[in-house]
Amino acid sequence: MRGMLRCFKRLCLAAACAALLTCGTAGKEAKQVKELTRDVHTHARPEEIAVRHLDLDVQVDFDARQIRGVASLELVHNGPADSVILDVRQMDIHKVTLDDDPRPVQFRLGKADPVMGQALVIPVREQTRTVHVTYATHPDAAGIQWLSPDQTAGKRRPFLYSQSQPILARSWVPCQDSPGIRITYRATVRVPSGMLALMSARNPQKRNPSGEYHFEMPQPVPPYLLALAVGDIDFQPLSQRSGVYAEPPVVQKAAWEFAETEKMIQAAEALYGPYRWERYDILVLPPSFPFGGMENPRLTFATPTVLAGDRSLTSLVAHELAHSWSGNLVTNATWNDFWLNEGFTTYFERRIMEALYGRSYSEMLAQLGYQDLKATIKQMGEKNPDTRLYVDLAGRDPDEGITNIPYEKGYFFLRMLEEHFGRERWDAFLHEYFDTFAFQSMTTARFIQYLNEKLLKGDAALARKLEIVNWVYGTGLPRNCPVPHSAEFQKVEKQIAAWENGVPAESLKVEGWTTHHWLHFLRHLPPSLSAARMAELDRAFHFTTSGNSEILCQWFQLAIEHGYQPAFPAMERYLTSIGRRKLVRPLYEKLAATPEGLEKAREIYRRARPLYHAITRNTIDRILNWSS
Ligand code: BES
Ligand code: ZN
Repeated sequence: MRGMLRCFKRLCLAAACAALLTCGTAGKEAKQVKELTRDVHTHARPEEIAVRHLDLDVQVDFDARQIRGVASLELVHNGPADSVILDVRQMDIHKVTLDDDPRPVQFRLGKADPVMGQALVIPVREQTRTVHVTYATHPDAAGIQWLSPDQTAGKRRPFLYSQSQPILARSWVPCQDSPGIRITYRATVRVPSGMLALMSARNPQKRNPSGEYHFEMPQPVPPYLLALAVGDIDFQPLSQRSGVYAEPPVVQKAAWEFAETEKMIQAAEALYGPYRWERYDILVLPPSFPFGGMENPRLTFATPTVLAGDRSLTSLVAHELAHSWSGNLVTNATWNDFWLNEGFTTYFERRIMEALYGRSYSEMLAQLGYQDLKATIKQMGEKNPDTRLYVDLAGRDPDEGITNIPYEKGYFFLRMLEEHFGRERWDAFLHEYFDTFAFQSMTTARFIQYLNEKLLKGDAALARKLEIVNWVYGTGLPRNCPVPHSAEFQKVEKQIAAWENGVPAESLKVEGWTTHHWLHFLRHLPPSLSAARMAELDRAFHFTTSGNSEILCQWFQLAIEHGYQPAFPAMERYLTSIGRRKLVRPLYEKLAATPEGLEKAREIYRRARPLYHAITRNTIDRILNWSS
């Protein structure tokens, strides 16, 4: 109990220190920085009473599209309070009891907000150890997607999966839904016989005919890492401590694609210390999954769109695996600090890829990231406050913080530090950082303070020279941003120049090109292309019929821009069969740029929308001005 309180005090102190640091070393904009350690996206008040353990006992009802049962939450009292506050959203609360007393208590539900949900206020006494909440989810709970059999690969059984990050856990488990909270959990989950249930916990590898599964997660995790999937799912091992889960028609292909996973785990451990979660498994979801991957502890959730058949998109596994350190072990304290999760992870991901496939490979990834970053800043505007690493998401959906900025600006900030201090000192620093703050949450201010202490050793002139404050609290891209160099991409640019100078597409030297070469190629074609020129490329390289989701996404953008009709039927199939937001959003955006395109987009979306997850739907609804 006191430990928790001390932890909060430490965080507040850290914020104050960083404020001093910023004022001492910064220019104008840094003076405005007021960093909050309070999470504005939760109703909970953990400084009074915090939840530290969850016992979940639920039944999954596919007919009613409902999860119902009891969540028992173990409390820690950190200060005087006569109630504990939980987050819920679109949820029916049937009954609340305390400890062993079967008499229900009078709970209160706060005002409902479409993003934040509601506060569930439960009166407690000083001695209250556990609250038991009997509840049922809403069929449209945003954190759960229910798929009908025809929306799966096998077409035989329905499927369910959760997506809790950033603040959707509250739509399927009543909890203190803040990344600054950590809980251990146990769960009993009852599903229809013949289906497998999996969580971000110790997992079964075989179906249990009874349909009853028991889970345990002994390491404390923030609630956004609570995860559940139920479906017609098989398992195939990859190594002693890793394997893949997927629907039967997909599991073989997935096992082949992810065969290098154990090597990735070993490379990661060699960099920043032992993997602390026992097993690392991957679950390949049906194509509607709105993200590329989600780092649910012990069980990464992944989109099937990375199954390219040539292992060329497996940096996604490196990324989600890297979160086992940056994110799951050391966790962003609030969603304003999201770059601490994603920037560190993008950096770590590229180090893993470099260890396995060499610098020229990881430098291609970095260069593509740099292009994304430049484009994002240009689009958002250099002065846009959301181009800061530390952002202010108060009053907004934290989903708005998911841009390239936390990922790529975060990556280049850390790479700048690496290049300045050299790998040896930098790696030792990061290794110690993960060890020191393992199973704790981290604020931006605390990180800057730690960096200042351990690496800069209080050298204020050096901090100024490296523009630390500007990187974190300033907008746009600092002048000392490293520029990646890819000799591989220079080869690609040469071929583009040759094509522009009259060499036919089929004679270009493209031997040995990987997905990344092709992405660079497609991104750097001349700005105007006739339908005949597009057709020439298509004949030579078969883009329209490619099986690679990333190449297709890039190609379809060109097809829309240049009005290349022969690619449109394939694009429609693409948009109506996958729901990964990153891949479909740019196509809808490009289509929506012209009146005819918009009409076409709306026609496609009408058919595609039922497949998409609420997260993707939200985004596309806005682009197409859709009201349902
Ligand atoms: N944790 C993120 C996904 C996420 C972020 C979900 C914020 C909800 C809120 C995950 O690790 C991620 O970054 N996924 C990327 C893939 C990665 C290879 C860059 C994605 O989904 O595109
Ligand atoms: Zn990530």
